[in-house]
Amino acid sequence: MESRLRQSTPSYFRYTIGLLSRFPNFDLPFIFRLRRKAVDSLQLRPGARVLDVGCGPGGTFPYLVRAVGPTGDVVGVEISSLVASTARKRIEVNGWKNVDVVEGDARNASPSGTFDGMVMFGAPDIYASPVALANLMPYLKDDARIVAFGIKLTNRRFGTLLNPLLKALMRLSFSSTPALNHEPWSPLKKYAAELEIHEYFYGCFFLASGPVSTGATLHSRLEQASEERNRPVECETARNAPIHEPSAAKTT
Ligand SMILES: C[S@@+](CC[C@H](N)C(=O)[O-])C[C@H]1O[C@@H](n2cnc3c(N)ncnc32)[C@H](O)[C@@H]1O
Repeated sequence: MESRLRQSTPSYFRYTIGLLSRFPNFDLPFIFRLRRKAVDSLQLRPGARVLDVGCGPGGTFPYLVRAVGPTGDVVGVEISSLVASTARKRIEVNGWKNVDVVEGDARNASPSGTFDGMVMFGAPDIYASPVALANLMPYLKDDARIVAFGIKLTNRRFGTLLNPLLKALMRLSFSSTPALNHEPWSPLKKYAAELEIHEYFYGCFFLASGPVSTGATLHSRLEQASEERNRPVECETARNAPIHEPSAAKTT
């Protein structure tokens, strides 16, 4: 896994993570406010379980831990073992007993249990990846909320100047990262129809948040299938009609 990621991880990112491992609580000052906004938008209650996918060194953990309290759970998913170990250092230094990091690719990771919220902060490989989203959504409860923060092309007047710069910046990113566009949150709309979008820094960054749509999670599809199975059969045609069942059950 690590060697595959090494091919796609820019060396400046590996270097930064190396530095961060010595300062596990470090975070960029201007990002605090946005992390707090992202976590607030999840409306987590004490005791909630939350997924932080593409958690990196765990910059959002402090806000998530505060939101779910000591009875809740925070589960990070991170593809790089180097980065995951930095996140674990942050967990250890802060003495968090209810935070865990699953080392794996969001496109096929299988965290245990179901979750009340999912954050994808600065993680285009997750929020803009239909494959990663299709894998993760079944782990969300019916009333879960999701939030994504990231970079986008701006629609503002000076976009002609800024956008080439943003695209160049994005090319420095992971080789697996989807190309930048004006609505990188689009793949999320399939699962969350009522997304609220806020733009920052002249429209170069976005925060997209909202509830998952009814029927988007496997949990509700399973319930629906079980209701259909229990409904009395009314006629021969109905009895012979094919029953479509979900192929993979990933609930607890
Ligand atoms: C720009 S960093 C953001 C980290 C963190 N969310 C934060 O706010 O500081 C994106 C992270 O996503 C991870 N990542 C990229 N592709 C991934 C995938 N397919 N599955 C899980 N993690 C992934 C990278 O290794 C990196 O740590």
